[in-house]
Amino acid sequence: MVDNATLQEQDKRQLHPLQHPKTHADPLVIERGEGVYLYTADGRKILDGMAGLWNVNVGYGREELAQAAYDQMKKLAFTSNFTGMTNVPATQLAHKLSGYAYDGLKTTFFTSGGSESNDSAFKTARYYWKRVGKPDKFKIIARKQAYHGITMATTFATGIERYHKMFGPAMPGFVHVPAPYPYRFEGDVREGETIGLAAARLVEEAILREGPETVSAVIAEPVQGVGGVIVPPDDYFPRLRQICDQYEVLLIADEVITGFGRTGEMFALNRYGIEPDMLSFAKGITSGYQPLGGVQISEAIYDAIQTAPDTDVWMHGFTYSGHATACAVALKNVEIIEREKLVENGWQMGARLRLGLESLKEFAVVGEVRGIGLIYGVEIVSDREAKTADLALTARITKLCQDRGLRTRNVGSTLAFSPPLTINSDEVDEIVRILGSVLDSLGS
Ligand SMILES: Cc1ncc(COP(=O)(O)O)c(C=O)c1O
Repeated sequence: MVDNATLQEQDKRQLHPLQHPKTHADPLVIERGEGVYLYTADGRKILDGMAGLWNVNVGYGREELAQAAYDQMKKLAFTSNFTGMTNVPATQLAHKLSGYAYDGLKTTFFTSGGSESNDSAFKTARYYWKRVGKPDKFKIIARKQAYHGITMATTFATGIERYHKMFGPAMPGFVHVPAPYPYRFEGDVREGETIGLAAARLVEEAILREGPETVSAVIAEPVQGVGGVIVPPDDYFPRLRQICDQYEVLLIADEVITGFGRTGEMFALNRYGIEPDMLSFAKGITSGYQPLGGVQISEAIYDAIQTAPDTDVWMHGFTYSGHATACAVALKNVEIIEREKLVENGWQMGARLRLGLESLKEFAVVGEVRGIGLIYGVEIVSDREAKTADLALTARITKLCQDRGLRTRNVGSTLAFSPPLTINSDEVDEIVRILGSVLDSLGS
């Protein structure tokens, strides 16, 4: 057993994401994981209702993935993927993924995570428009409450101001429009219009305002995770696709959370029968067992790059693009998701979770329960009628849940649930029971 107090003391001096150093006094030290459970260095067991950071889709403690990493590392842990080289698992994985998410996306560029994937997508969009003779198209339209990552560009594509404040001035070229967020829709809804169509119209209006000749792409998460588990109405994405086509704007699907089964589809936009021009993925591709991400591009974009002048070699790449060990683990992870039918299990368990969470509406602080597949949000309000967001209360509930053995995450005024896709009915019921007991203890 490791010494929890010593580790906490040693960790105090480190910088951690989304944490003020001053309050980093007694971090939760996680020592191991098994299935949906985490075990802390001081001997506690916590049901991980977040699957890490929305990513540990196959659950913790998978020997097969450890074995895949071990085998690959012994053979070849890493090699450069630059200037004409590749390696066996990177090639096999790219081949496996060709047309896998969407028929039209056959070409993959690997990164190490979601931010790098979105950043790569923005650069690819710029280059594409230059190649087809429209070099002024560089702006990106994103939605409020969007989260796209933490590099300089993806920070400012993100539509949550907290992420901008400390790091301005803002990068130019990022425009935000209201999210398709029915519970708190910030836009106007016209007579006869649905919220989904109104939200899509706001994208169209932004394109027209900026000038279509200046807009390169719209980036959108199919379900906005970090922004509060915002699920768009069904008519939003099909209309968004039409608008992008009409104004010659690329649609980038940020499926860093939704990819690899989270929403009950292997990839989320399949639900609407539409395809993006580019797809960013990460997280679920390896279930977090190795850092890996990527961007897939349409045939039109590939053609533009492939037929470029000889001097335009693809001047973009990360040291770890196509990392051999990460790709070997990804291949095994995708095999597990398919073999164990985890997308179907996630869908079924999600239906049970929905019922359970909805039963908690008896507590006045539950403003709304929303989600799809196995990603759910419970919006916490101090006044249900007025829909008054209560960030402090949401944070308090999160902490109380953790104390009682359930990990959720407060994303704004919403509690997020995105457990491993392997979860079973008893474990789903445990989530609902613990959250219910916490809400009950508030006396609401
Ligand atoms: C939708 C979305 N896009 C991009 C990212 C950034 O991914 P990463 O943290 O791997 O850079 C995240 C991370 O949570 C995300 O949720």
